[in-house]
Amino acid sequence: MIMKVIAITGTPGVGKTSVVKILKKEMNANIISLTSLVKEKKIKSDWDKVRMINIVDAKDIRTAVRKEIKNGINIVDGHLSHLAKANIVVILRCRPDVLIKRMKKKKWKAEKINENIQAEILDVISIESLQQKRKIIEIDTTKSSAKKTALLIKRVLNSSALQRKYPVGKIDWTRKFSHYLINYPVKGC
Ligand SMILES: Nc1ncnc2c1ncn2[C@@H]1O[C@H](COP(=O)(O)OP(=O)(O)OP(=O)(O)O)[C@@H](O)[C@H]1O
Ligand SMILES: [Mg+2]
Repeated sequence: MIMKVIAITGTPGVGKTSVVKILKKEMNANIISLTSLVKEKKIKSDWDKVRMINIVDAKDIRTAVRKEIKNGINIVDGHLSHLAKANIVVILRCRPDVLIKRMKKKKWKAEKINENIQAEILDVISIESLQQKRKIIEIDTTKSSAKKTALLIKRVLNSSALQRKYPVGKIDWTRKFSHYLINYPVKGC
């Protein structure tokens, strides 16, 4: 039996769930949503009142995900999915000015948007993923729809040659957007 685990990660709000919904149909995959696992209390979490986020432990993520894996293709959706044991990690990236629009669509507060925009500029997810020592690809979603991104991911997952064209570390927002780190781009905090 083949059991393949693909982690779709990226800064909160980048578009993981939108892309995963399409990949589910395209790849006939079992979806493992970390958000759902936290809601269902299958992953223990502590609520951070100040930052308004759930704090979870990497070990708990790994254990919970392992229990949800089925035969065939499994896709783990979540901004911490790179902490799960996966065959390949797909990091979704988005240019900060465009990412702000996606986050505003989710009606997030200025504080949450600014914190996550900084994380995107500083490659936080990419650095964390590299520490897990897994095969990683990085996809820039800035100019594409969720559907186009999903179809590209499907093609890249099926080709080792294409995977080499999407290495981690190629994307660099610091040149054009480092001022966002000093002057908050979204006012109100
Ligand atoms: N290329 C794209 N890929 C994905 N989403 C996009 C794209 N362009 C625009 N969007 C929009 O960006 C928003 C992304 O929301 P989504 O919930 O999918 O992100 P997420 O990464 O799963 O967030 P969270 O980390 O909170 O779970 C949606 O409103 C979606 O329609
Ligand atoms: Mg999501």
